[in-house]
Amino acid sequence: MTLFDNAVTYVHALLRAHVAEGDVVVDATLGNGLDAAALAESIGPSGTLYGFDIQQVALDVTRSRLKNTPCTAILHLGGHEEMSAIVPKEHHGSVRCVTFNLGYLPGGDKTVTTVATTTQRALAAALDMLAPDGLITIVCYGHEEGERERLAIESVLSALDQARWTCVRSTFLNQKGTPPTAYVITSRSE
Ligand SMILES: C[S@@+](CC[C@H](N)C(=O)[O-])C[C@H]1O[C@@H](n2cnc3c(N)ncnc32)[C@H](O)[C@@H]1O
Repeated sequence: MTLFDNAVTYVHALLRAHVAEGDVVVDATLGNGLDAAALAESIGPSGTLYGFDIQQVALDVTRSRLKNTPCTAILHLGGHEEMSAIVPKEHHGSVRCVTFNLGYLPGGDKTVTTVATTTQRALAAALDMLAPDGLITIVCYGHEEGERERLAIESVLSALDQARWTCVRSTFLNQKGTPPTAYVITSRSE
């Protein structure tokens, strides 16, 4: 397995490189809990993870996966567009990392998927609560709603001030079909 095998291994390598023990982090789409577990490993027992998903099964699977990687995990059954209200104000401006892995729950109901309007609102909330030197990662897939999400994400990212934000888009040029796109956003300290 190499760093660039797929969008998820790529993003996990970045999360591991960036997130440190004791950090406050957000998994905006818990799903099967693999991203949450990668974050939990990095923040350790002194870190705090806020997690979101609209399906109870995702919270249950994630909670059981996190048993092996203890941290303070506050998992919210509800949309990531509620992020500003759920992550306490005291953490706004000090969240070290927010990760989005969009689309539907692998192995679950493919009709329950993230959608462009709420993804865009959640991204705006994530940008607002990020720490200086914070990191946002987004993996966006090539299905029909994913394409709408891609456009919504890029309209937000392309308007960000380059003095404060770095926004990178990575694509998998030789993958067949409609490969995912990974976005990496970092904020600079003033
Ligand atoms: C591709 S999966 C996430 C994969 C996951 N991070 C992992 O490590 O397995 C996308 C998840 O987004 C969830 N979802 C859909 N709409 C959402 C929303 N508005 N807010 C948060 N999660 C949402 C789905 O229920 C699904 O579990």
